[in-house]
Formats: sequence, structure tokens, C-alpha cells
Amino acid sequence: MDRIIIKGGRPLKGKVKISGSKNAILPILAATLLTNETSKIHGVPNLWDVHTMVKILRALGVRVKWNKNTLTVAPGKYSGYVAPYKYVSTMRASICVLGALLAKHKKAEVSLPGGCVIGIRPIDLHLKGLKALGAEVKLSHGYIRISAKKLKGNDIYLGGSFGSSVLATANVMMAAVKAKGKTIIENAAAEPEIVDLALFLNKMGAKISGHGSHTITIEGVKELGGASHTVIPDRIEAGTYMIAAAITGGDIRIEGVRPDHVGAVIDKLKQAGVKITKTAGKIRVRKQGPLNPVDVTTLSYPGFPTDMQAQMMALMSIVPGISIITEKIYPERFMHAAELNRMGSDIGLEGPSAIIKGVKKLSGAPIMASDLRASAALVLAGLAAQGQTEISRIYHLDRGYENMEEKLSALGADIKRKK
Ligand code: EPZ
Repeated sequence: MDRIIIKGGRPLKGKVKISGSKNAILPILAATLLTNETSKIHGVPNLWDVHTMVKILRALGVRVKWNKNTLTVAPGKYSGYVAPYKYVSTMRASICVLGALLAKHKKAEVSLPGGCVIGIRPIDLHLKGLKALGAEVKLSHGYIRISAKKLKGNDIYLGGSFGSSVLATANVMMAAVKAKGKTIIENAAAEPEIVDLALFLNKMGAKISGHGSHTITIEGVKELGGASHTVIPDRIEAGTYMIAAAITGGDIRIEGVRPDHVGAVIDKLKQAGVKITKTAGKIRVRKQGPLNPVDVTTLSYPGFPTDMQAQMMALMSIVPGISIITEKIYPERFMHAAELNRMGSDIGLEGPSAIIKGVKKLSGAPIMASDLRASAALVLAGLAAQGQTEISRIYHLDRGYENMEEKLSALGADIKRKK
């Protein structure tokens, strides 16, 4: 299994270009299933999760061609409607084919995704929304079997105990675009990835309005066609490089970013004393002088993203004083805390909060990645630590960060992958 070796202590300097968003492209690829026509998606990041989604599309009978960062998806008259366990078990986001398959074939079978290291992750909201459109759902032998004689628009309240759900909103939108009549989703997710999906669906001929707010209205249409689209930049990758600048005392110019998508991260970093300037499509992040501790609570968009929580914890672990990070989306998403403590940080957990007592420095150590964002946090900690850090199980990073070692090396990091 591959490992990453980092010799820490170098301030990162220079430019980095942000790749297309993983969490935007996954539901967009699912949406291509809604038509027989060919779609072309540009700016697609070359990531494991995208490859997994491509494998699912191919298993359904769809032709998919990669050409650098462009994917051509030609569903033709594909007939598959089963998303098998072998793919869904490796990527929970596979669930987002459910709504599109239901709309297309009036039936779908998708393996139940189960839990993962960041928490239990139920799918009740996905099922509630699809049932409200007329679907019948059976759960048996580890599969969701869903069917409908016809889909009919409805008013659907899609909030749960932890607020809105990104992929449940995506699934309901994809089923509702071909339902008869009007659907109104209340407490819909307002994440930029949902907006990008709605823009893509509208290019296909859907009639969606209100995306980006918590009330989305969808007028059902009979047919959708193929579309051409460029996926939005990855706001979590951008936020991760912003923290790379802050944690190493560096100066990074982040290019190809949407500054309006990372407002909460910019706000917290500024509060901590990091210097940030933004211009169209670019953000410059510099650390000059000591930082202050900050308290962070994760929330759905436009709040501070849970997918940046681990990286922020790595930064706060070397800021003198006490910072408290409260996780309101996945209250158990703290697997990285113990690994950071093995590098010398002082982090305690109290229910959904982490109490971080900033230490002077971290020291390089052998550590293990547990999930995608935890891996990113450990890389950041390794970049700031004294001495050598060896991170195992880094396949998690390949799921969501395109060319991370190359991008960090170009910024001056001493980072290598050991096969
Ligand atoms: C998306 O997952 C992202 N994945 C996650 O990114 C991200 O952490 C998450 O949204 C929150 O922002 C993709 O977009 C592919 P949710 P999703 O449904 O849609 C609860 C990463 O690292 N909930 O918005 O599956 C749920 O338990 C990944 O890139 C229900 O209660 O997350 C959580 O507390 C990891 N019932 C909250 O809602 C449901 O039916 C938000 O989860 C569904 C969710």
C-alpha cells in the first residue's frame, strides 16, 4: 500500500491551480443518466471517486470516454438499473444514482451504503423525498429496491435532525425533473454543488428555480437532452491549500477558485490573523506573525463546511491558546484527533466538540489516514511538523485531491509517495 513521506518545516510559496469539484461532478454524472443523448463535462478531476462513478455508469450500460479532464457520457438506450455493492461499498456518494434511475426506468436497485468512519450516515431523507413523488421502497438483502408506476410532483420538506442533506436534495431534484407537475423542496441544501447540478439539469432542459436557496421549485418536463458543462472549482481543495499556507507560515496564490464559495473559511482564517486578499478567481493567503485561537462550528452552506473541519483542527493545534471546534453535521467525525495527538498536539473530545490546546510545534511521526479529509489534515500537520511524517492508507487522498503531491511539491514541500 502506498505511503506519503513528508519532511516538514518548509513554508509553502507560489501558485496552485484548483481542480474541478469532486462533490459537484458525482451527482452531475448521475444526472447524465436522465437522457439517451450524449453529454460532455469539462474540468473533471482525475480522482478515484470519479473513476468509481464512471464504473457504475459503465455497469449500467453507459459509454463513457475520458479525454484529459473532459468526460463524454453517451447513455444511448442503456437498460441497467442496478448499482452493485462492489461500487457503492467503496463510495457512499454512489447513492446519487437512485433518483436519476428512478426517473428514467421507474425502477432502481442500489446497494445500501451503510455507515463509514465519519458517522452512521442514514438515508431516510432520500427515501422520504422519493416516496413523496410516488415511489415504493423496499429494503431487502442489503439493497434499496425502488419503483414507481409514475412520478408526480409534490411539496417535500427535506430537513432532518442535522439540517438539509446535499445528496438527498440531489436525488429528489433528479427524480422530480421528470415527474408530472410541480415539486417544491423545502429545507433543500443550498451548497454550490447543488447549484451546479441544477445548472446542468437546466441545460439538459429541466425547469428548476430557487437553487442556491433553501426552497427549490421543479416543474416536471417529459424529456431531457444531452448538455455541455464545466464543473465548478473544488471549494474544499481550495480551503485545504489556504490552510497549507497558514500552517506552514507561507504565501500561496490560489487560482481558479470561487472566492464566494469559501466565505466561511476566509472569515475564520482572517479571525485567526491570516492575511487574505481576493480578486476574481484568485485568493492570496499569507501568514505573517503569530495567529490567535478561534472557535469553529460546522454548519451546512454557507456555514463552515464539515469537510474543512479536520484541516482547521490541524491548524489550530499549533496556535497558542484554546480553540473549540464543534461538529454539527457529523458529531463523530474526529478520527484525525488521535492521530494529530500522536504528532504532539493536545486535543480532547467532549461529545461533538474538540478542545484544542495549541502547542508550540508538532513532531513528525508514523500516522494513519482514516478518511479523505482526515488524510488532508494529516498531510497539513506533516508539512508543519519538525522531522519526518509517514502517512499510511493514503488511498483516501486519491479519492478527493487531484495531484496533491505534485501541487504541494511545486509550492516547495518535501513530499514523496512511497509505493
Ligand atoms: C455530502 O454528503 C458530501 N458528499 C460530503 O462530503 C459532505 O461531508 C456532506 O455532504 C455534508 O456537507 C458528496 O457530496 C458526495 P448530507 P451527503 O446528506 O450528501 C444527515 C467529502 O469528504 N442525513 O448532506 O451524504 C447526515 O447524517 C464528503 O467530500 C440524514 O439524517 O451528506 C448528516 O448529519 C464526505 N438523513 C447531515 O444529514 C439522510 O437521509 C448532512 O449529510 C441524509 C443525511
